[in-house]
Amino acid sequence: MKQMLTWAVVWLFALPMNAQQPRYLDPAVPMEQRIEDALARMTTHEKIQVIHAQSKFTSAGVPRLGIRQLNMDDGPHGVREELEWNTWNPARWTNDSIVAFPSLTCLAATWNRDLAALYGKAIGEEFAFRGKDLMLGPGVNVARTPLNGRAFEYMGEDPYLAGEMVVPYIRSVQAGGVGCCLKHFVLNDQETDRFSVNVNVSERAMREIYLRPFERAVKEAAVWSIMGSYNLWQNVHCSQNDALLNGILKREWGWDGALVSDWNAVTDTWQAATGGLDIEMGTEPRGKDSSSPDVYNFYYMAQPLEQKVQAGDVPMEVLDEKVRRVLRLIFRTSMNPRKIVGSQCSEQHYEACRRIGEEGITLLRNEKIKSAKGAAPLLPLEPTALRGRRILVVGENATRSLTCGGGSSELKPHREVSPLDALRSYFSRLRSDVTIDYAQGYASGAPIYDKVDAVPPAEQQRLNDEALAAARRADLIIYVGGLNKNHRQDCENGDREGYDLSFGQNQLIARLADIQPRIVVCLFGGNPYATSWLQKVAALVHCWYLGSESGTALVNVLTGQVNPSGRLPVTFARRLEDYPSMLFGTDGYPGTDRQVHYREDLFVGYRWFDLSAREKRAFLQRQGAASPAAPLQQPVFPFGFGLSYTTFRYGRPAITATADGWEVSVDVTNTGQRAGQETVQLYVGPRTPSADRPKKELKNFGKLRLQPGQTQTLRLALTPQDLAVWDETLHAWQTRPGQYTAYVCASAADIRGTVSFDCR
Ligand code: BGC
Repeated sequence: MKQMLTWAVVWLFALPMNAQQPRYLDPAVPMEQRIEDALARMTTHEKIQVIHAQSKFTSAGVPRLGIRQLNMDDGPHGVREELEWNTWNPARWTNDSIVAFPSLTCLAATWNRDLAALYGKAIGEEFAFRGKDLMLGPGVNVARTPLNGRAFEYMGEDPYLAGEMVVPYIRSVQAGGVGCCLKHFVLNDQETDRFSVNVNVSERAMREIYLRPFERAVKEAAVWSIMGSYNLWQNVHCSQNDALLNGILKREWGWDGALVSDWNAVTDTWQAATGGLDIEMGTEPRGKDSSSPDVYNFYYMAQPLEQKVQAGDVPMEVLDEKVRRVLRLIFRTSMNPRKIVGSQCSEQHYEACRRIGEEGITLLRNEKIKSAKGAAPLLPLEPTALRGRRILVVGENATRSLTCGGGSSELKPHREVSPLDALRSYFSRLRSDVTIDYAQGYASGAPIYDKVDAVPPAEQQRLNDEALAAARRADLIIYVGGLNKNHRQDCENGDREGYDLSFGQNQLIARLADIQPRIVVCLFGGNPYATSWLQKVAALVHCWYLGSESGTALVNVLTGQVNPSGRLPVTFARRLEDYPSMLFGTDGYPGTDRQVHYREDLFVGYRWFDLSAREKRAFLQRQGAASPAAPLQQPVFPFGFGLSYTTFRYGRPAITATADGWEVSVDVTNTGQRAGQETVQLYVGPRTPSADRPKKELKNFGKLRLQPGQTQTLRLALTPQDLAVWDETLHAWQTRPGQYTAYVCASAADIRGTVSFDCR
């Protein structure tokens, strides 16, 4: 009785309070009604305040109404360190060290959708715990040139693979109430002239290749925000591009999220207001000190827009539409009652980091080496066979941090295990008497954003000589080099200077291999590179960037504790000029007079390398390219390629019709001695190829874990939509009826079986 009385009193007091609670604050009220309620209470000035930055990485809420601000941060491989409110200087906090996760190219190389979901969950928890509402990432710009300084932040050359990986990633981040801000919409495929280059691309390539992963993130993952890119399309900056943002993204795709500009990408109040931008960030107004606290009032969508709205030059409805989207984003994130607390540097996050790294590491070569016991592949390393031996580790990346540098994706990790440390601790755990020596071999200088830090040739020579002398005493060399996060390597705001590895590494690797053919070359990088020394080395392992657990993941693969299963999300061509984007002079890359033309059209990556030499020549002629100086070559390592410590046999594929389309099934058997994972890739193309369409395109894949001798049947679905192409006369997706071939492959160049089917 007493309890009932207490409840009645509580209820009586609560009733008037609830009744007074404005509808916009009540999460039980439908979202759209809350938005309208809040909007109706806001003054014009308050509306203006929420559509632009109030600091380097936040945009304002409405304090008077109890509407919270948006806390944003880069992205996309971990939470960036805190910066000062108004400057790019570190805030020097001591509690903002985080887990650095592998680069997104590494995630793409896992071809494992579950790991994409795991990545999203872990990184979302770190963002939530750091008090962030919006993660600036992930990125899905398509790799059309291996020189792109930011390729490591994206998911490779194939829109289907990028889409398959980004959808689960976004879903899991957003499930925790942290929003993703998908980058960089769109055609930001090079860093050279990124602020000013206009991209000319056919409607079809735009739709089928470059927009496709974004479209899937919108339609299948309902991404809450998107970042407009710096570059131009149809001669209008993409962050304020009406045709792109209002036309395609918002109207055609029905997207209800908020479009955030890239930092300092906005150039004009009218275009920004009417061109579909919702939140302006990072502007550096001309003649103003961009680190002064009142600079935000001079943003294009601050005072200048407020004046235009007051004067009736920009309709209030245009402003209201932006505010609705911003409020929606705030209610979804910073005011989401189900937003998680999250966690930082948990053991689960380190484990996720290590697992993604281990599955992304891609074994590209593993040759047999003769020993007393006969010939066997050099990897995995057998600790017992190395007893009493000397291992020489050579290369700067064996000790260098690969999480600092690179531009906005730079991180301050709580820990980062280097390959050298991981090797040493592995052998010391085994109490092995292996000796591990280290020689740096070359130097690259400090990672200075926007500048190249050149190392004097004499210093380079000294390091080279030291490594070569040490090599003469070694029984095994583990070379750990590749690219790094320096400017003009894998770094924002500048592309690579060439396709070769820098700092004299080609010569160094070749000379080391001449001295000791038992050499494992482990290279980091977000891009392919020339491998002139390939035939000399016994093994090549491509590591992408692996984050906090870098060394641990690599050593687990080298020593066979993990059987590598990474597959390339990009083609490794022999030479730069084998890439189709490089065959049209400066018009094709990086642009002439700030106009770049994607003349390779749909034939990006493997779509190009699938053509015969004759077909390539005919295509180039049609597109007006000069004949290539030397015959075009096939890739060294095709898209989808990667080795394992075991081998797999494919059965004959079969196809059956289903209610939604078709199902392709194939038996796969592990024919080797170790458990391992195989990625079966399903490509589809018209049975009679036509010149205007790639021969085959990736449409599904599956990853199987198999014990030695085990067989499993993999079933992969196909739908008529998977066969669709963009029709430039109808301006719509069209599935052409006809006969098609499904290719069951181990890589784009390794077809293990085909089946034909009809689409009516
Ligand atoms: C980059 C964005 C990044 C932003 C904020 C820009 O330079 O292009 O990707 O999110 O800076 O750091």
